[in-house]
Formats: sequence, structure tokens, C-alpha cells
Amino acid sequence: MKKTVLSGMRATGKLHLGNYFGAAINYVKMQEEDLNCFYFIADWHSLTTQHDSALLRKSVKEVLVNYLACGLDPEKSSIYVQSDVKEISELYLYLNMFAHKGELEKTASFKEKSRTKGQTINAGLLTYPVLMAADILIHRANLVPVGKDQEQHLEMTRTFANRFNHVYKTDFLPEPQAYNFGNELVKIMSLDGVGKMSKSDENERNAIFLDDEPEDIRKKIKKAKTGNTPETPNEEKSPAVEGLFSLMKLVSKEETYSFFNQEFNACSIRYGDFKGQLAEDIVKYFEPIREKIKQYSADDKYLLKVSQDGAEKARINAQASLKGMREIIGINYFK
Ligand code: AMP
Ligand code: TRP
Repeated sequence: MKKTVLSGMRATGKLHLGNYFGAAINYVKMQEEDLNCFYFIADWHSLTTQHDSALLRKSVKEVLVNYLACGLDPEKSSIYVQSDVKEISELYLYLNMFAHKGELEKTASFKEKSRTKGQTINAGLLTYPVLMAADILIHRANLVPVGKDQEQHLEMTRTFANRFNHVYKTDFLPEPQAYNFGNELVKIMSLDGVGKMSKSDENERNAIFLDDEPEDIRKKIKKAKTGNTPETPNEEKSPAVEGLFSLMKLVSKEETYSFFNQEFNACSIRYGDFKGQLAEDIVKYFEPIREKIKQYSADDKYLLKVSQDGAEKARINAQASLKGMREIIGINYFK
């Protein structure tokens, strides 16, 4: 049987290079393989942190436009908005019975958010990993292309699935794996070298978005942190410099990367030249995607059709899983 792939992104704004190299690039590669692919926009997840209706609408559209511009093809993948598949919310309810308060409180993403919000943190954030597990298990997905920051959430999905299977003595739910073609999961650094590139970074200038204009990309890279030029041959790179080099590895020719890497190791690197080259290569790499973003943004009719068709395909699959789960749980009375 074909394996099933599921992944998604929160509707909290435009996609950046972290979303692209951490996840979207694999979404596109996987749809070309003999796999059953589902990709969605996690609008319910974004309600855990923001309640601005206009912004929600805008973000859902942006993520869909970005998906299509990156190369997701509605003929090959089911592309849908989470809230169009209400079956997910029923599964979320069932899975909540298999999630322990203690383990939810220990989740890194929850701990980080509760530091700033304290006791007024909402229960949606606490059960965020349960909703994510429901997204995955509703399709009984095997492979989940995500960046490194999602590793722990995937582990929790496996825990909930195993508990369900164990309690009901079944093997109905699979053990989904985070997937990056056998390689380490990716983490793209923020341009200041502190933590991952993220949509919620207070400083927007630390992320490069897929639709950033060339001038903006040049300015952001120029301002990116590098620090002093190296003083001892082959010294270790600072996280910020390492981050820029790993971007170069992704967007530039191999010989460009090795040239600057040798220059660094020989302590003769000129950061101005290095960043100039990196900026040009990012500009060039994303040019076709920038163009497509403009095209798709202007075509609401097409976006509606893609999301409706995608939701229909996703619902069919979701209903089949849910039917099986209801039977296992015993929700089939008076028949
Ligand atoms: P989010 O925007 O947080 O919903 O993330 C959507 C997808 O992008 C997930 O698969 C994340 O793991 C991935 N992602 C987000 N930021 C990064 C990053 N800086 N590096 C690698 N992957 C990332
Ligand atoms: N939690 C993911 C993130 O913040 C988004 C997400 C929600 C997701 N549900 C998912 C990713 C299911 C993969 C599978 O990036």
C-alpha cells in the first residue's frame, strides 16, 4: 500500500526560508513520489496565539499562495484548510483522553510560551500537540516532513497513537515519523544567529520571506550578524556565521560555498563579499517563487477551488479513519 504523507503550517503569516528549506521543499519532492500526500493550513492552531480575524484571513491566503508558488500541485496533493475538515476536531477530542497533563506541560513549546503568559495561558496551547496529533492521525499518515523544531511534537503523536492502540488492543493507528529523506531534520537560523528563523521573531528583519523584494533581501543580509573576521586558521564559526554558510550551501553553487569556506578557514574572508554573493544567490533562487506568489495572490477564484477540492479529498480520507476509530471506541449504538 502507498504510504501517506501529511504536513502543515500555521496560518500566522508569510513563509520564510526556514519554512521553505525545513519543510516546503520536501512537500514538493514527496508529491513527485509514489505517496499519498496531504498538505494543510493550520488555521485552528493559529488561534492558540492570535485572535485577529482580518489577520487570520490574510494569513490563510498567504500560506496557500506560498504553497502553490513553491510548487505544490493540487493534481498531485490534497491541499486544504484545517477548519474545512471538521473530522479533525472529533479526533482531537478522542486523543485528548490519551494525553497526560504532565507530559503536555513539559512540552518545550508550551514551556516557552508559559514563561511569558503565566497562569493566563490558554488550554489550546497546552493541548497544541494533541491537535497536531489529530491532524496527522486523521489520515493515518506515516511520514511527516517537518523542520527540527517539530521533532518533540512527532514523538508525542506516537505516544498518543500507541496508547490508543494499547488500550483498545488494536494496531489501527500508525507510528508517524518526522521525515527528511533520511537526513537530519533542518533548522535554519535567524539572521542574528540567535535561535531559529521564525515568523514571530520580534525583529522581522531577522527572517527572509519568500516574497521579499531583491532590495530587501540585500539589506537584510547586509545587516546580518557576522562579528570579527577569524583570527586562527580553521577556527569554529559563530552560530550567526554558521547560519549564513548553511544558507549559502542551500542556494549557491558548490564552488561558491567552498571558495568562501576556504577563505574563512584561511582567515582571509571578506564578509562584505561573502554576504553580497549570498544575497544575490538568494535573490536568484527565489525569483520564480516571487513571481508565482504575485500571480496566485491575484487569483482568489482559483484559491477557492483548490481549497474546496482539497478539503473534499481530505474529508473522504478523514471520514474513513474516523469511522474506524468510532467502531474501535464503541460509538455505534442502537444498531
Ligand atoms: P510554522 O510556521 O511554525 O507552522 O512551521 C511550519 C513548518 O516549517 C514546520 O515544519 C517547521 O518545522 C518548519 N520551520 C519553521 N521554522 C523553521 C526553521 N527556522 N528551520 C527549519 N524549519 C522550520
Ligand atoms: N506545529 C506545526 C508548526 O508549528 C504546524 C502543524 C500543525 C503541523 N499540525 C501539524 C506540522 C501536523 C506537521 C503535521 O510548525
